[in-house]
Amino acid sequence: MPRAKAKVKAGRSARTARWQSPAKRPVPAARPKARPAQRFTVSHHRDEDFRTDGLRAYAKYRDLGLSRATHGMVQAHVIRLLPPFRREEVSKRHYHDVEFQMVYVLKGWLETELEGEGAIVMKEGSCWIQPSGIEHTVLGYSDNCEVLEIVLPADFKTVELE
Ligand SMILES: [Fe+2]
Repeated sequence: MPRAKAKVKAGRSARTARWQSPAKRPVPAARPKARPAQRFTVSHHRDEDFRTDGLRAYAKYRDLGLSRATHGMVQAHVIRLLPPFRREEVSKRHYHDVEFQMVYVLKGWLETELEGEGAIVMKEGSCWIQPSGIEHTVLGYSDNCEVLEIVLPADFKTVELE
């Protein structure tokens, strides 16, 4: 019996030690929304999968199937920028309304000017993220330029500023 008493005592003191005034209690983090289960998907390279019905008329897009597999959480595509670069068509200031946007240069190079960052030449192997709302303008690209872009959500808005 003395053992049980000691246990109760220890329990009480532990509770007392953890007590904090409501003002000092940490706010519990919001629980992430439950997302539907993702499906397995694989996309192998096929040249005929590059399509011209994407966001830009001067690019072909190879959708990697992630939007369907993630129920619209994320989209990923390989973007092949079509030569020749035409400043009057391409160099238009805009931004994207996204949760996340990442770009990785697979082939060639492109030069882009980003709000607050200046003009940067992104070369094969360069990777950057574009925080939501950052204004940017593509200033040029090589004839063989290809990039991988990953965006959340899959269905996002682009706002043209000119
Ligand atoms: Fe953009």
